[in-house]
Amino acid sequence: MNDKPSTEKTATYTLTDNGTGRTFELPVIQGTCGPDVIDVRKLYAETGCFTYDPGYTSTGSCESKITFIDGEEGILLYRGYPIDELAENSDFLEVCYLLLYGELPTLEQKQKFEHDIIYHTMLHEQINYFFRGFRRDSHPMAVMCGVVGALSAFYHDSLEISDPKHRMVASYRLIAKMPTIAAMAYKFSLGQPFVYPRNDLSYPENFLYMMFSTPCEPYKVNPVLARAMDRILILHADHEQNASTSTVRLAGSSGANPFACIAAGIASLWGPAHGGANEAVLNMLQEIGSRDRIPEYIKRAKDKDDPFRLMGFGHRVYKNFDPRAKVMEKTCHEVLDELGVRDEPLLDLAIELERIALEDDYFVQKKLYPNVDFYSGIILRAMGIPTSMFTVLFAVARTVGWVAQWNEMIEDPSQKIGRPRQLYIGHTKRRYKPLHKRD
Ligand code: CMC
Repeated sequence: MNDKPSTEKTATYTLTDNGTGRTFELPVIQGTCGPDVIDVRKLYAETGCFTYDPGYTSTGSCESKITFIDGEEGILLYRGYPIDELAENSDFLEVCYLLLYGELPTLEQKQKFEHDIIYHTMLHEQINYFFRGFRRDSHPMAVMCGVVGALSAFYHDSLEISDPKHRMVASYRLIAKMPTIAAMAYKFSLGQPFVYPRNDLSYPENFLYMMFSTPCEPYKVNPVLARAMDRILILHADHEQNASTSTVRLAGSSGANPFACIAAGIASLWGPAHGGANEAVLNMLQEIGSRDRIPEYIKRAKDKDDPFRLMGFGHRVYKNFDPRAKVMEKTCHEVLDELGVRDEPLLDLAIELERIALEDDYFVQKKLYPNVDFYSGIILRAMGIPTSMFTVLFAVARTVGWVAQWNEMIEDPSQKIGRPRQLYIGHTKRRYKPLHKRD
């Protein structure tokens, strides 16, 4: 792999000002895959101009070796490995190791990593009491933001971000404790006792066990559902510089501790344009209710004056298909077969909606395809996971991506505090007017 990005090409930039033109050379950097980038770091110093890119549609914010997406071809690679191969052959903790360390583990490394993660799943007992401060009907994502942020108040011994050992301990703690916190948020909403993690279960089994068992009777985890859960976690583990990951990097760029940064990532993930979409898809399907109402909703999605969007459709980067959606659709059928769900009206509705949208000119021309969230909600619902927990699951999975990206940023020698500028369009300087002189 080419470690140093190449900079052989240049771009020429001409600033035309009152008829006079000034020309500047800008270096062009090539990565190992993907589009070249024009290096504008010296642009302001040399020209006095900023670049302007709301939504960062043309901006690369960092160098990264973790995840690559080719949106035109529908390719997603974690450390070079295609997502479908990982979903088919690997398991979530192996993928966590890969994302964190850059290589697939040997057997010995895998066993040690699994052991270390499993032995960090339990939470400080005091956190149980912290939960009691929330209302029982709080949205579990609100609880997640609060509890994960509070971890820095419980684990003081892993906050020294310049120490690689502290960083790794904090990363392991976050990956390990996230399912425990998520399951506790669910149990709290039901008023059921918290279920402590079990070290003899795998990561996805343990999660299902903490979510669905009670102290009153034995609970056996269904292996097909555990495998499906593992796959869902793999598919959501990382996704390059998306909104929540960029939030984690930006929060971390000031030197904030990792628990605070991940809490910031959770807050960003919550929005319906990002991780909140899986919850929104199910709510939308329920609202549509029957096949004959699909055209009405398609019409609304196309109407510029209506804020309604077809949830689970479209993606900033994928303009062909979302490779995660394909695996998710297959997993969806496996889960429904295992559970003996022959007739799932929401799945029928989703398939019909997908068919109609994919034949519609508006969606074809704008290259709007189903994304990962389109089918995940149906699987999660069939597994008995309530809608309000869908985005929480996404957060559990994405934690490894966030911590891998956060570690990569801290280790990057060119790392600086993230500090964008702006195009100011407010008032120019004006004098303060005393109250009695205002109209
Ligand atoms: N339904 C109807 N129209 C849409 C949709 C949609 N779901 N998505 C995009 N468009 C239209 C949009 O109105 C715009 O039209 P025009 O060019 O005429 O103004 C055009 O397509 C381009 O959309 P955009 O909003 O400029 O694209 P974006 O890259 O800023 O937004 C997105 C990407 C995912 C936020 C958007 O497609 C969306 O809101 N989708 C629904 C929410 C969703 O499913 N989100 C989950 C994303 S995948 C999980 C994750 O990574 O978090």
